[in-house]
Amino acid sequence: MRRYEPGFTGQRAFWGRAFLLLGLIVLPGGTAPARAAGHGAVATVHPLATRAGAEALRAGGNAVDAAIACALTLGVVDGFNSGLGGGCFLTLRLADGRLVAIDGREAAPAAATRDLFLRDGRAVPALSQFGALAVGVPGQLAALAYASTNFGRLPLARLLEDAARMAEEGFPLTRTYAGRLKTAADELAALQGEPPAAQFAAFRAIFLPEGRPVMRAGEILRQPELAASYRAMARAGPAWFYRGPFAAQTAAWMRGHGGLLTEADFAAYEPQRREPVRGTYRGFEIVSFPPPSSGGVHVVQILNLLEGFDLKAMGRGSADFAHVVAEAMKLAFADRAHWLGDPDFAPVPRGLVAKDYARRLAGGIAMDRATPVAGHGTPAAADTDVFGREAARHTTHFSTADGEGNWAAVTATVNTTFGAKVAVPGTGLVLNNQMDDFAAQPGVPNFFGLLGAEANAVQPRKRPLSSMAPTLVLRDGRPVLAVGAAGGPTIISQTVLAIVGAVDFGLDARAALAAPRLHHQWRPDELVLERAFGGAVAAELRRRGHAVKVAGELGAAQAVGLGPGGFVAAPDPRGEGAGEAW
Ligand code: DON
Repeated sequence: MRRYEPGFTGQRAFWGRAFLLLGLIVLPGGTAPARAAGHGAVATVHPLATRAGAEALRAGGNAVDAAIACALTLGVVDGFNSGLGGGCFLTLRLADGRLVAIDGREAAPAAATRDLFLRDGRAVPALSQFGALAVGVPGQLAALAYASTNFGRLPLARLLEDAARMAEEGFPLTRTYAGRLKTAADELAALQGEPPAAQFAAFRAIFLPEGRPVMRAGEILRQPELAASYRAMARAGPAWFYRGPFAAQTAAWMRGHGGLLTEADFAAYEPQRREPVRGTYRGFEIVSFPPPSSGGVHVVQILNLLEGFDLKAMGRGSADFAHVVAEAMKLAFADRAHWLGDPDFAPVPRGLVAKDYARRLAGGIAMDRATPVAGHGTPAAADTDVFGREAARHTTHFSTADGEGNWAAVTATVNTTFGAKVAVPGTGLVLNNQMDDFAAQPGVPNFFGLLGAEANAVQPRKRPLSSMAPTLVLRDGRPVLAVGAAGGPTIISQTVLAIVGAVDFGLDARAALAAPRLHHQWRPDELVLERAFGGAVAAELRRRGHAVKVAGELGAAQAVGLGPGGFVAAPDPRGEGAGEAW
């Protein structure tokens, strides 16, 4: 077990030590522990990240520190999914009962314009998915630092140093990682000179030496530049990133390559503290991430729609079950395409998560056939009762919990594989392509096939709409499940299904994630069904009018739960992740 030794310097270090000591005596908020201290649970997509989270807990950190350790380690060992060049959302439940949502979503540059990705009037996906224009101001570090300062116990510098060591010493590539290197190479090879190849030189030098994906599973990847960047942040704090050398270097690179991000964009970036989306489902409380994610809104909305149906009586592998869940998803995703966007720029109706709105929509669901959904619905007070401007004070999912009652559900991403595939030269940091989550043009789908409207058009400093849904489920005020997923819009479906598994079918976190999955996002009008549902269910759904597409495996969710025997850590059995619970 790696130890958190003293030895760090400066005022932050003093307070770090003081809080560490204080934390051992007085728990946050002064409340008595719900369970004996020392218990914990961590689940991530990578065994090394899970171990880092567990070590943070064992070293006296809380679930927030564990989540930060996971995030920083994932940025090293799973950088194709997430990292400090990307963004994240954290949904926290603190031991004193407070519920917190921290928005570290990327923001568009000030110079971004509505038609940024159009050429001759047509959207050019390569521009929002690769290279300089695809990049939003990364928000992950700001969000993690905010979480650490306000709710953590271990110094951020210490956690950065541990991750730096892993970047320096290297780690064996997983099969998934080796596969993603090939994906990146193939995607770059398919670009036809736009964006120009020069933009990917630093990325290639690190990840595709010799111009090819030469590294295989099991080989050691060392990232000395990334280690140096992590250490610089450990020394100078987030200022190194947002107001110092990294911002300057990135802005200079952007100037030289037709990008828009400036030092002023970095300096202006603030993580946003938001009001979590709250709902209920059959007596359980659902707490999830609000706009600019669509995740929480639609997880709650779909659960509201399903509440009127007896899923348990239908049976979880049945055609009736898959049918009604798909019909609910269609209705929610039609609303998503119209209403959802950054609430600081577009009014997002709160009525989307109202029970009476769900009852009205659910009235249109027929059991014997797929009902076409022409477009979005209109909740009550759609233009006056809107999400969270006033609440704003200023892909990979992982979940952690500790014995005191702190729980963290965190989803982090650079968007698609290795984001924009831009590494800022000399820093080892790979930048996101989150600008592709905006609607480049009405009616034009993004990478995930999602449509968007005015609410999610590109605007200066706006945050692109997300599907990420870090979610907590509580019973009588006590958390029982922290869950979320990766996989674009399927995040919403996976999260809903995990909750349905736990609530309707009484499954523990592991069984809930193992259960067969389905996904429908309205457009395309296609029901994706995991093969595990079986041929007879697929045939019956086709008979009811669904365009069924059978998939081997769908998604990657990670959860921790509290069962009768204590904590359960549930990495998705479809992936190479790991869980620790004790
Ligand atoms: O924020 C979103 O919804 C997307 N950028 C998430 C991307 C994602 O899940 C990729 N993972 N497979």
